[in-house]
Amino acid sequence: MRVINVALPKGRLGERVCRLFEKSGLSIPGILEPGRKLIFEREFADLNFALRLFWVKPFDVPVYVERGAADIGISAKDILLEREPDVYELLDLKTGICTMSVAALENFADDNSRTLRVATEFPNIARKYYAGLGRDIDIICLRGSVELAPILNLSDVIVDIVETGTTLRENNLRVINNIANLSARLIANKSAYKFKTQEINNIIGKLRT
Ligand code: PRP
Repeated sequence: MRVINVALPKGRLGERVCRLFEKSGLSIPGILEPGRKLIFEREFADLNFALRLFWVKPFDVPVYVERGAADIGISAKDILLEREPDVYELLDLKTGICTMSVAALENFADDNSRTLRVATEFPNIARKYYAGLGRDIDIICLRGSVELAPILNLSDVIVDIVETGTTLRENNLRVINNIANLSARLIANKSAYKFKTQEINNIIGKLRT
């Protein structure tokens, strides 16, 4: 029986994805129970494969999959856009839906003659977006709470994830542009997909229904 190794993103998205696995007939006992255990396994005799799921930091999912430590993984699209891993993106799980947006203070007015200071956790996405517009920018890389940057005049704008818009609203910021629509995607290692096509397609089929 083949084992399919699956990298799951720790946290909110991972929990949602586990519930989706459960609903699709791929439930893994104990995986959502509190604890520090990282790896969970279950055989699916009827499908002739076993799943070995492991929790990794969301930003690391594409690394495990690209290098083949995981055959497949679930990754937020923002992380795929940022890291650009050499993997197959096989399914939109239609969960974790949000946008990558540019936001600024309510009274912000762009001055094209000046370099734009952009605070973000996604430097690659920001760089590409502004390169496409031919706009000079200065990227300020942060690890979270980027909404603070324009308030403290650390940046002019932010490039960040917007889900409900609450964080922006509560900090007097507004969206000025949308860069991309985001959601959770199933990705596969390229050679694993070649050798375990049937199993991976079976998983995709179940998650789709
Ligand atoms: C994300 C993002 C925004 C917030 C948007 O942050 O960076 O801050 O969610 O969600 P909203 O539109 O529903 O308010 P997250 O909670 O992941 O934490 P972070 O600030 O550490 O990135």
